[in-house]
Amino acid sequence: MKHNIIITGGAGFIGSHVVRLFVNKYPDYHIINVDKLTYAGNLANLTDIENKPNYTFVKADICDLDKMLGLMKEYNVDGIIHLAAESHVDRSIKDPFTFAKTNVMGTLALLQAAKIYWESLPEKYEGKRFYHISTDEVYGALELTDPEGIESPFTTTASSSEHHYAYGKEFFLETTKYDPHSPYSASKAASDHFVRSYHDTYGMPTIVTNCSNNYGPYQFPEKLIPLFINNIRHRKPLPVYGKGENVRDWLYVVDHARAIDTIFHEGKIAETYNIGGFNEWKNIDIIKVIIKTVDRLLGNPEGYSDELITYVTDRAGHDLRYAIDSRKLQAELGWEPSLQFEEGIEKTVRWYLDNQEWMDTITSGEYEKYYESMYKDR
Ligand code: NAD
Ligand code: DAU
Repeated sequence: MKHNIIITGGAGFIGSHVVRLFVNKYPDYHIINVDKLTYAGNLANLTDIENKPNYTFVKADICDLDKMLGLMKEYNVDGIIHLAAESHVDRSIKDPFTFAKTNVMGTLALLQAAKIYWESLPEKYEGKRFYHISTDEVYGALELTDPEGIESPFTTTASSSEHHYAYGKEFFLETTKYDPHSPYSASKAASDHFVRSYHDTYGMPTIVTNCSNNYGPYQFPEKLIPLFINNIRHRKPLPVYGKGENVRDWLYVVDHARAIDTIFHEGKIAETYNIGGFNEWKNIDIIKVIIKTVDRLLGNPEGYSDELITYVTDRAGHDLRYAIDSRKLQAELGWEPSLQFEEGIEKTVRWYLDNQEWMDTITSGEYEKYYESMYKDR
């Protein structure tokens, strides 16, 4: 079946990988990338596909209901993959209102536009899909306990032989009660609830997925991995929040995009799927891997950049551990990560070092001033 799909936030980190995958893999589909181009949106993430005949970019704000409705009608849209959001936890601590506006009201405007348009059609919701991309952060935080005896279900998983893939026996399941702690995760939780309410109240065919931390090319350099790679290159301090003991579950971004493809086509309506790598790392350990990899690729002696590690005031309300159980997705739809972590991190570091111009365009000028002031205030 041919689809006309709006992908929101397609100029951002994950969205650009999803747009690329769909445009290349489905030449019969029309992919309409709707993005406001905030500080995080960057059309340079999509130069390789921007001239493809099945791709259209529209600069628009998801909060603009009339505009969203107009686009749905103009392109006869039957699918929405919704990634547009304010996505950085530190920014949400400083400016929660922008997060409520985009993540909650923006999602609501998009849902309402889809409702009005799809309900106006003779076939109504038949063959339609509203797929909302959410985060593991809505589930709250887990403790660090002894993970002895837990095996990874994946053949291609995180771990090298000397690395644990889990830091506890408890994981987030699709049934785990929501318990968000930051304004970012609270806004994502609210948007998830709105999406489900449109299924339960109006019968809209919705799907929600909750994914763990993504890493890979094109991530905005306010996030841990690209920020640290760039700071090492420029011999700037590496600000480790608190003791660096917090644990995150890292998934290569292309594997998230592959999961989104599978779920968009084969996922069950009204279901939730967790997506994660079974690839948990303490921040300080992943930071050491990054330093080692960057130093090796730059030809520096081992340990050369260790001195850049700088412990700073912890993030307010910093969640200790996230850990996604994605066995439902594996069992029902056969998805698994394709990359071993060592391979993924090597590819990622290489990409940032090879694409310094992409990085410099973002980090020079106004953004540099913003970044400096953000860290001065901590
Ligand atoms: P990002 O910040 O890199 O990109 C967000 C994109 O949304 C940008 O292109 C931005 O211009 C656009 N946008 C923001 N406000 C908009 C608006 N009002 N109208 C239209 N476009 C707007 O984010 P990301 O890291 O790629 O995350 C994408 C989605 O995935 C988000 O919903 C996020 O909550 C979710 N998610 C992210 C991760 C992660 O590790 N990055 C993990 C799980 C879930
Ligand atoms: O878990 C999924 C979430 O992952 C997504 O929903 C968010 O959109 C995405 O930003 C990410 O959130 P995190 O807060 O986990 O990512 P971040 O890269 O900001 O931080 C990763 C960890 O590193 C976190 O424990 C905080 C820490 N950190 C981060 C930065 C930027 C530092 O110690 N120093 C830093 O400078």
